[in-house]
Parts: sequence; structure tokens; C-alpha cells
Amino acid sequence: MSNLAYESAPDREETRQQDIAAMNILRPIPRISIQAFCETEGVSGPIERAGEDRRMAKTHLKVHMGGIETAIEFYRSAPTPNLILLESRREPKELIESLRQLAEICDPSSKVVIIGHYNDVWLYRELIRSGISEYVVAPVSMADIVAVISAIFIDPEAEPMGRSIAFVGAKGGVGSSTIAHNVAWSMSTLFSSEVVVADMDLAFGTANINFDQDPAQGMAEAVFSPERIDEVYLDRLLAQCAEHLSLLAAPSTLERVYDFEGDAFSQIIEIAQRSAPLLVLDVPHVWNGWTRTTLSQADEIVITATPELANLRNAKNLIDTLRKLRPNDAPPHLIVNQVGIPKRPEISAKDFAEPLELTPLAVIPFDPQLFGNAANNGRMLGEMDARHAIVQSMAEMAHVLTGRSEVKAKKKPGIGNLLDRMKALKAKK
Ligand SMILES: Nc1ncnc2c1ncn2[C@@H]1O[C@H](COP(=O)(O)OP(=O)(O)OP(=O)(O)O)[C@@H](O)[C@H]1O
Ligand SMILES: [Mg+2]
Repeated sequence: MSNLAYESAPDREETRQQDIAAMNILRPIPRISIQAFCETEGVSGPIERAGEDRRMAKTHLKVHMGGIETAIEFYRSAPTPNLILLESRREPKELIESLRQLAEICDPSSKVVIIGHYNDVWLYRELIRSGISEYVVAPVSMADIVAVISAIFIDPEAEPMGRSIAFVGAKGGVGSSTIAHNVAWSMSTLFSSEVVVADMDLAFGTANINFDQDPAQGMAEAVFSPERIDEVYLDRLLAQCAEHLSLLAAPSTLERVYDFEGDAFSQIIEIAQRSAPLLVLDVPHVWNGWTRTTLSQADEIVITATPELANLRNAKNLIDTLRKLRPNDAPPHLIVNQVGIPKRPEISAKDFAEPLELTPLAVIPFDPQLFGNAANNGRMLGEMDARHAIVQSMAEMAHVLTGRSEVKAKKKPGIGNLLDRMKALKAKK
């Protein structure tokens, strides 16, 4: 139970050699956010060293001193990251009890690993049953930390962890790309969760302009050489746009044509989903094999339309087709955009949504000043005016699309289950 692992020099060398051997087989950890709450230096030390390891280079790690209480206090006002590492010296019953409070404020998609000081089978079983990803008994080595994170996030058997959200317009120029980029930016800033934006409009994509980026490589290299695509190659193609946001940019040039097979993007989408928790796909307004495949395979679809007849007809066709292609999924989300253009006759948002049998995810007013200034300056709307109602609306969409809002709260395995299970256990007693 004491943390002597790194005390004397010969011991240190021996542990280092053991770490090297154990880490040799581990693959790089994807772009996840990790926060650790530690009560002892014996645990914070190995976690900090793990953070410096090359396999953790893509992660965002922050180590806090303080146990569960500190974590609870912290998360009352901050979003929970993809992974929480929590050290606790509490005895088993007390530990379970204090985790209940954490469960109340923890996002259901966040994973939690407990580093405890009791080698207790009952405790282990209770924790795993209640949605904790792993329980590790201190002392821990740096290799233990990296291995436990690997087991959760890069299990080759596991489904890719990233959630893909595809944005498409019911017509050209309706604002689908602008909304995709701004919602992606909101996700990355609000949840400190890594987001990759993939601009699939190779000829005319605007993500590079909107994020003020001019990378030499991006989406084209990925689709034209699918055999080279792996996580390492993907990394080279990504352009960093903000602390937690990176972009697979379109070349936006016309030197070649962009005719692809139906599954041309599947490989890059899968790799990107293994590499980051959120993938935003900016799908151009065209209907061909690869757009249909991309839309039918996405976790969520967002259709943006403006309130006039051709948009309504197209939105109806898209929604009906996608309902058939995805019979076991929720229908696409609808955004009614550019509402209230002066002098333009419009279909009201209510009349627009009714034949589609959907409640719009958002109704966004036409605001040429806000959108125009942002577009011309290569800035996000939230960077222009953080308190603007449209920016708030982007934030709300970010919540719903990541399953964080009340409306759509879908529970994934994680500590979110903890509370329910504990209630159930208590009821049984
Ligand atoms: N609510 C809005 N108010 C004013 N301007 C808007 C609004 N939404 C989008 N725009 C502007 O409309 C233009 C078209 O937007 P965008 O390129 O995002 O549309 P798109 O649907 O992706 O088009 P494309 O079919 O070319 O892919 C941009 O200049 C954008 O700034
Ligand atoms: Mg577009």
C-alpha cells in the first residue's frame, strides 16, 4: 500500500526497465482529454511521467492534487473529460458512497478509472458493475497507467470510440458547412473534447477559409491513397485549428476531378473515429455513392435547410430516404437556417417541420453581419461575439448532438450508469 516504487536509485532503474518492456507493446493513445485527481505523489508521479511518454503525445492530460472531493467540486463548474483517473484512499464502502455524488455530475460518456489502496474483490466487482471502467490497486507504475488507458481506448476488438456527425444541406448554399464548423468549434471549446472536422467538399470546401488554415495536405491525400491511411498518416494530414479542434481540409482546387467509389471515405472515417472522440463530417450537397454511404453510416445526421419550397421538397426526400436506409436509427436532425431574410416570402418553421414529422434542432435567423464578419475574418461566430443568441444556439446543438442534453440523453456505459445501478442496489437491500 505504500508507494515506495520510485524511492531508491537501483529500484528506480529496475522499475524503469520494467516500464520500458511493458510499454513496448502499447500503441499510441488517441486524442482524448484526461484529468487525474491524486491524493499521493506515489500515484501522481507515474501519471505525470505517463503524460510525457510519446504514446500519450496526442492526449490532453491534467493532474490535480486532491481526491474525490476535489473532483466533485471541480466538475460542478467544468465539463468532465473523456477519462478521469481518480485516486482514493477511502475504504471500500465509503468509496462507493462518495462516487455516487460524482456520478450525479459526471457526463455519461466519460470513463472513470479508480486507483485505490484496498485490494478487495467485493469493491472491484461493485465498481465494475456500477460502470467504472477499471479499478487499479496502488502502487502503480507509469506502464500500468498507459496500459489501463490503452485497454479502454484502443482495444482492437472494440468499436471505434468516436461519434460521427454528418452535416448536409437540403440545397446548395444554405449554411450547412458554416453550421458544421461552428458546432464543431463549440463542442471542442465547451467539452474540452477532441474534435476532428473532415471537409468532404474537395473542390469547393470552405473549412480552410472559415478556420483560417492553409495546410498543404488533407482530405485529398487521404482519399486518393487509402492504402496509406493509418493513425500515424492521419496525424500528418490534420491541421490544428484550436486547442481541441483539428481539420482534414479539402484542397479546394480544380486541377483534378473528384469522382469516387461508394466506399472511398470509409477508411479515413473509421481511422478518424479511432483517433478522436468526435468527428464532424462536412458533406457537400450532392447525391452520389459516397455521400449516400457516408450519410447512411454516420452516427448522427444534421440536415440544414432554408424555409422555402425547394428546400422543403429536398429535405423531405432526404429524410424519407435516410429513414429507409437507417431503419434502426433516430431520424436526421433538421436545422432551419437563414430565417427572416427581408422581403423574402417564407414558409414558417412550424409549417416547414410539420410534413417532415420533425421538431427542428434549431431555427437560426438570417444575420448577414455576424456571419459575414466571421467568414471574412476566418473566425468562428463564438470568437466574434460569444454572447450572441446564434452562438448560444450552436452550443445547444453541440449538447444535443453529443448526447449531453436532456432531450436526447442517451446513456453509454460509463459512470452515468453508476447512479442508476446504485439506486437499484439500494432498493434491493
Ligand atoms: N443564418 C445565416 N445568416 C446569414 N448568412 C448565413 C447564415 N448561415 C450561413 N450564412 C452564409 O451563407 C453562405 C453559405 O454558407 P455555407 O457555405 O456554410 O453553405 P453550404 O450549405 O455549406 O453551401 P455549399 O452548398 O456551397 O456547400 C456563407 O457565406 C455563410 O456565411
Ligand atoms: Mg458546404
